[in-house]
Amino acid sequence: MGMTAITTRKPRSRAAATKPPSTPRHLAIVMDGNGRWARRRAQPRSFGHRAGQKAVRATVEYCLRQGIEALTLFAFSSENWQRPSGEVGALMELFLKAIDKEIDELHKNEVRVRFIGNLSAFSETLRARMYAAALRTADNARLALNVCVSYGGRWDIAQAARQLAEATLAGTLDPTSIDEKTLNGRMCLADLPPPDLFIRTGGERRISNFLLWQLAYTELYFTDTLWPDMDATELDFALADYARRERRFGCVPTPLPTARAS
Ligand code: IPE
Ligand code: IPE
Ligand code: MG
Repeated sequence: MGMTAITTRKPRSRAAATKPPSTPRHLAIVMDGNGRWARRRAQPRSFGHRAGQKAVRATVEYCLRQGIEALTLFAFSSENWQRPSGEVGALMELFLKAIDKEIDELHKNEVRVRFIGNLSAFSETLRARMYAAALRTADNARLALNVCVSYGGRWDIAQAARQLAEATLAGTLDPTSIDEKTLNGRMCLADLPPPDLFIRTGGERRISNFLLWQLAYTELYFTDTLWPDMDATELDFALADYARRERRFGCVPTPLPTARAS
């Protein structure tokens, strides 16, 4: 179906065996602040987007070093189409060039790349490049890199609901059997564990229509650092903060170890 994301094979991650338990398995990032970074240097916004590519590379390398299994990056939202056409055009060109420039290194590092979102909104050329990159890296199992483009959390829920409606109409799905698990199975990234840690750079404290469904129990971390300035030190801060969190998932706190059970 043209509207849905490219889906490839499930990764057979070997990262899980080596990393300490306080390391997130799945990291999701809203890469915000490129425009302000450029403005501070009296440059056009596109200059900031180009600078952001370096931070993407540093983040991917960091995840590889840490044994993180999945990295999901918000690169372009459903709402970002409303930006001036010059900026949107510059971003499309950047995506195209970035794929060409990075794909060999990503493949060499055993990264499985996928583009998630309403890909039908992109040009034929860009779509073909995205499919080719996903296909070429489909069997890689070290890190799953999901690049969300023309993505919105609401779009994701709506496309999953549409798939269920179609299956019901086709007679392959009993509507009374639909539950959270059924819907989840049709959401983007259903083959991965949900994000453990969400990071937003650029100082805003909001989700901006990123992974609404998948972030239900994700730990949230916000930093004022602008995306082009993101580096391993900043990521260390975020992961150290995450390691101190107690994840309860609605349950009661884990009791401190005592000599006798109460
Ligand atoms: C994030 O940076 C990149 C995209 C949304 C494409 P911004 O372009 O939103 O930068 P700011 O938030 O205006 O500084
Ligand atoms: C969120 O940033 C989208 C991406 C980083 C791709 P925005 O800059 O679009 O978000 P708002 O407009 O500040 O909420
Ligand atoms: Mg922004």
